[in-house]
Amino acid sequence: MKVILFGATGMVGQGCLRECLLDASVESVLAVGRSPTGKRHAKLREILHDNFLDYSAIETELTGFDACFFCLGVSSIGMSEERYRHLTYDITLAAAKTLARLNPGMVFIYVTGQGTDSSERGPLMWARVKGKTENDLCKLPFKAAYMFRPAGIQPLHGIRSKTAWVQAIYVGSAPLLTLLNRIAPKYMTTTERVGRAMIKVAQNGYPRPVLESEDINRV
Ligand SMILES: NC(=O)c1ccc[n+]([C@@H]2O[C@H](COP(=O)([O-])OP(=O)(O)OC[C@H]3O[C@@H](n4cnc5c(N)ncnc54)[C@H](OP(=O)(O)O)[C@@H]3O)[C@@H](O)[C@H]2O)c1
Repeated sequence: MKVILFGATGMVGQGCLRECLLDASVESVLAVGRSPTGKRHAKLREILHDNFLDYSAIETELTGFDACFFCLGVSSIGMSEERYRHLTYDITLAAAKTLARLNPGMVFIYVTGQGTDSSERGPLMWARVKGKTENDLCKLPFKAAYMFRPAGIQPLHGIRSKTAWVQAIYVGSAPLLTLLNRIAPKYMTTTERVGRAMIKVAQNGYPRPVLESEDINRV
């Protein structure tokens, strides 16, 4: 399987990259991002890109992929709706539309979050924006599109969040998160499980397009 990965420098993306590099069924990974991962591996190639609404300059590099794991995303905290929509909806759909056109056989997996509002009309701004993003991704002509909606994600194997306050929470509550992972699979998963589940779902599919934490842990 040839994988293209967005957000490889983030907490979820680092986990996904780790699992892809370890998994023999993943032949290669192309990481597209605005900053380097700092990793070197025979299977990994990187493109540093600066305009996440326009991929025309690198389109020739974006063909021939079986799966896209889209882990690029931001927290909505302290952000206007307009800015959050730009970083969430506009960037994701711009990349996905390009990839669907160039790779009709591609499986697209989007990391969204628990509580995403598929109605697009609920009271929570972030949930509405993520809901519209999910809904419109599902309309694109991919082989299949899956929405991963984890709740809490425990970073493992030295992986760090790019968001300082998220990282501080995860460090401070590490023992509690380990316990929650054992007793509350509905609400917790790990970077390793998310990455493993992405690979398996891209290869084998899943009965539903939306995977909650429990599904991610079960795959
Ligand atoms: N962390 C969690 O516990 C959790 C739980 C549920 C859902 N999620 C969802 O998972 C997704 C990823 O979260 P995360 O925790 O991995 O976030 P993160 O650690 O903050 O990483 C964010 C990633 O997105 C990239 N990015 C952010 N803004 C960008 C922009 N304007 N242009 C290009 N790249 C940009 C970052 O690249 P740079 O390295 O260049 O900044 C980084 O690779 C988000 O959608 C989040 O809602 C996370």
